[in-house]
Amino acid sequence: MCGVLPIRKFILLFTIAFMFHVSLAQEGEVASLSQNNLQTYIVYVHKPEGLHSMQSESLHRWYQSLLPVTTASTEHQQQRLLYSYRHVVTGFAARLTGEEVKAMEKKEEVLSMGLHPEKGFWKKSNFDKGVIIGVMDTGVLPDHPSFRDEGMSPPPDRWKGRCDFKQTANRTFVCNKKIIGARSFQVYDNLLHSFSAQPVDEIGHGTHTASTAAGNFVRGANLYNNANGTASGVAPHAHFAIYQVCSLDECSSTDVLAGFDAAVEDGVDVISISMTSLNVGQLFEDSIALAAFSAMQRGIFVVCSAGNSGPSSNSAYNAAPWILTVGASTIDRNIIATARLGNGDEFDGESIFPPNSTKRLNSKLFPLVQPGINGQMLSQNCNNGSLKDINVKGKAVFCERGMEVSRLDQGKVVKAAGGAAMLLVNQEQKGFTTYTDPHVLPASHLSSAAGLNIR
Ligand SMILES: *[C@@H]1O[C@H](CO)[C@@H](O)[C@H](O)[C@H]1NC(C)=O
Ligand SMILES: *[C@@H]1O[C@H](CO)[C@@H](O)[C@H](O)[C@H]1NC(C)=O
Ligand SMILES: *[C@@H]1O[C@H](CO)[C@@H](O)[C@H](O)[C@H]1NC(C)=O
Ligand SMILES: *[C@@H]1O[C@H](CO)[C@@H](O)[C@H](O)[C@H]1NC(C)=O
Repeated sequence: MCGVLPIRKFILLFTIAFMFHVSLAQEGEVASLSQNNLQTYIVYVHKPEGLHSMQSESLHRWYQSLLPVTTASTEHQQQRLLYSYRHVVTGFAARLTGEEVKAMEKKEEVLSMGLHPEKGFWKKSNFDKGVIIGVMDTGVLPDHPSFRDEGMSPPPDRWKGRCDFKQTANRTFVCNKKIIGARSFQVYDNLLHSFSAQPVDEIGHGTHTASTAAGNFVRGANLYNNANGTASGVAPHAHFAIYQVCSLDECSSTDVLAGFDAAVEDGVDVISISMTSLNVGQLFEDSIALAAFSAMQRGIFVVCSAGNSGPSSNSAYNAAPWILTVGASTIDRNIIATARLGNGDEFDGESIFPPNSTKRLNSKLFPLVQPGINGQMLSQNCNNGSLKDINVKGKAVFCERGMEVSRLDQGKVVKAAGGAAMLLVNQEQKGFTTYTDPHVLPASHLSSAAGLNIR
């Protein structure tokens, strides 16, 4: 018997956009925020001598003694110390402010709080030195700073892959100790489009997913001077084997299977895939699940993204039990752009405009205008051409997110029509999912709830 599977098209999955914290709030607001800004941390500590003979009570008291002095009163400590762990980890859970965390990290007893490059389990993992991660995606942009090979070891002896970067007219791409292999499987696409056969990313998706998994440390990474710091992937010293199996926004199962085949033969340890077929049927019809099963049998760990949206029925993809299915997440930083109304109400949205300022831009209030309230749907979304007959000059324009127009283009249309600023408001189903975009004018992307209030 043989099974014949239809060729499936996969679409690329994007994890959530980057969000950084920049304080655009006033000093006073920042201070009051940080006072209430308790977050829960798990604090891992060095095993004390005689831990096993220690009574729960004395262990608890010892943990308590490690809390910062700002929590010195017993009453405070009881509220702050949530759990004293005894058997499975040495440590405790506590509610702490950012400043307290910084102070505690300096204590000798404290092993780690989160991912710390100088101590704790992240460093002890050796940043995954020697591990080879096969990334099946749109290729990578090899001269991206995340793919420099400082601090990297040479490829392991078991590596049998190859590097197909070539010299082109303007740029020479080569593999290094970070990117140890790169191949392109574009048969399907080559029949339809003309395509550069080198595994260079022309879209950005593969560069994004690879650097998130294992980008090297990049000091001084920032977004228009905001959120300056060291960027890195989760496994910064792992090697990459790049398999370009997608182009434009599509990947074909013929190419994906060829990439899998090569990755297994080349000797990768991990395969990372951020794509899915939207009409997945049974597991035996799902080529990613099938290939992942064989890879798993050979000891290769397969990691896939679960999808870009949810929660709703069937919104998680790549959920075969032999795949590690990773849901989209976010981080605890935002670049906040606050919209302040004439009545004093304030709504925090997101935007990267103005690029270089960490100060409040809007000492000035603008008249607010909502186009499209007479039923012209296109103006409601500030579509191109739709603001012609509406006077938005010098005004803040209330635009609803539309399906047919990009967020950046909405800002461009408002600016071209003479608008001074834009409040970009989510559709109801997008809720609180807002983006830090480099708009061309002062703008704030607001939740649908904020939009309802402002309306
Ligand atoms: C490469 O060079 C060609 C010819 O000089 C030019 O047309 C093209 O835009 C260049 N491509 C890039 C990416 O710089
Ligand atoms: C970012 O921080 C680094 C030090 O960590 C510093 O050398 C650099 O100048 C900073 N860059 C910006 C744009 O602030
Ligand atoms: C922001 O700062 C960068 C670096 O200092 C500079 O190159 C850029 O022109 C500035 N942009 C604006 C809009 O001021
Ligand atoms: C809007 O349309 C005009 C005329 O077709 C075009 O020049 C302009 O680039 C368009 N603007 C946007 C943001 O698409």
